[in-house]
Amino acid sequence: MQVTVLGSSGRTGIHLVRLLCRHGHRVRAGVRSRGRGTEVVRLGAEPVVADLASDPAVLVDTFLGSDVVINVAGAADPDPAAVNMVDRDGAIAAVHAAERAGVARYLQLSAQFADSPDQGDRLVRSILLAKQVSDDALRKSSLIWTIIRPGTLTDEHPTGRVKLSGHLEPGRVSRSDVAAVLVAALDEPLTENRGFDVISGDVPIPTALATAG
Ligand SMILES: NC(=O)c1ccc[n+]([C@@H]2O[C@H](COP(=O)([O-])OP(=O)(O)OC[C@H]3O[C@@H](n4cnc5c(N)ncnc54)[C@H](OP(=O)(O)O)[C@@H]3O)[C@@H](O)[C@H]2O)c1
Repeated sequence: MQVTVLGSSGRTGIHLVRLLCRHGHRVRAGVRSRGRGTEVVRLGAEPVVADLASDPAVLVDTFLGSDVVINVAGAADPDPAAVNMVDRDGAIAAVHAAERAGVARYLQLSAQFADSPDQGDRLVRSILLAKQVSDDALRKSSLIWTIIRPGTLTDEHPTGRVKLSGHLEPGRVSRSDVAAVLVAALDEPLTENRGFDVISGDVPIPTALATAG
């Protein structure tokens, strides 16, 4: 499959690009500037400039020919204005750009409790709210969507095992396991038009995706 990733230079993004390339997908790795593309080239991906804060028309061109778009970008700055620009408005613009480009499938990395964002401190709430709005836009789009809502992200080693369900207790999960969930979701039709919480657990990822309630 031709897969375009938004946020490829990020800590989850780089795991995702590596795994997608390993699974034989052709990967366009969206980076904010050419200078951030060196690592993805080494992994076998084609770097493309994709800035969620820039002209959405450019995103349409970037997505043309892609079967799948996966958005794992997130604002670098927790300030609500930056979060609204990237995690809400930029993410929504990317969904609409994917529709216009004829993309079939769209996966979005959200956050646990984005579907009930009335918790945490002011900054956490603003992130959850921004993600709730862009998740809603994706659900209402014409795209075949999957929304993954991870608990607190860690940089621990991958385990290949998670706990995954419609709603879960608060938890943590490694970025590498989250990337593996996103890649495995491409091969599991039961993840189409569904949203899941994911935290660390002991169920092999393909089984967790195939049996999630
Ligand atoms: N941290 C947590 O505990 C947690 C929990 C749940 C969900 N999440 C979400 O999971 C996602 C991945 O998190 P992470 O910690 O792996 O992220 P990260 O390392 O901070 O990487 C974020 C990525 O987004 C890119 N980005 C920032 N602004 C952008 C823009 N305007 N256009 C395009 N790309 C842009 C960054 O590009 P540059 O490299 O150029 O800055 C980077 O590649 C985020 O959406 C985050 O909100 C995080």
